Amino acid sequence: MSASLPVAVLASGTGTNLQALLDTVHGAEAEIVAVASDVPDAPALERAQARGVPTGVFERATHASGEQRDLAMADWLAGQGARLVVLAGYMALLSPAFLDRFPAAVINVHPALLPSFPGLRAIEQALDYGVKVFGVTVHFVDSGVDTGPVILQRAIELPDARDADEVLVALRPIEHALLPEAVRLFAAGAISIDPENPRRIICAA
Ligand code: GAR
Repeated sequence: MSASLPVAVLASGTGTNLQALLDTVHGAEAEIVAVASDVPDAPALERAQARGVPTGVFERATHASGEQRDLAMADWLAGQGARLVVLAGYMALLSPAFLDRFPAAVINVHPALLPSFPGLRAIEQALDYGVKVFGVTVHFVDSGVDTGPVILQRAIELPDARDADEVLVALRPIEHALLPEAVRLFAAGAISIDPENPRRIICAA
């Protein structure tokens, strides 16, 4: 059996997506070697600690700039051996300097069908627009806001949805399946870029 992929996770909040990774791919296809946050009391950090995963806090306020913070974080993650960085509810924008340290190896989960509703409050944006199909996207991170190439997407019809909590409850199981699936594919070397269209990601499961 091939060695498992060393993965770092960045999370700012509750950490249910981190938990999904800890409960599925961790110790199997992947090894979560570090969890970092920009929020010192993020519950995600406790989830990592409960599984013995090293944690780090990189607050904007304790660094000279956002880029300096990101470089310190990149140094720590690289020192932990990370070869894939997963954003699981990480709400700060990563600087190009960070992305350069992990080329084509930073992925994000977003609670909408991109390119619709990027950025913050995606579910609220979708409800305000009045869509009847919601969904989840896992994508590569580039220097834009939720603009990187799409790896996996899954939709759900919720024609009568009225509030964000209701939609979130429906999207949770999708996120918690899709993100581990993307990590499995990455670990298996099954994700590649279509040479004819660099926006198109080929997943050879
Ligand atoms: C998830 O719904 C994730 O898709 C979203 O934050 C939530 C984190 O939940 N991410 C974004 O909106 C990024 N633009 P969690 O802390 O329970 O994993």
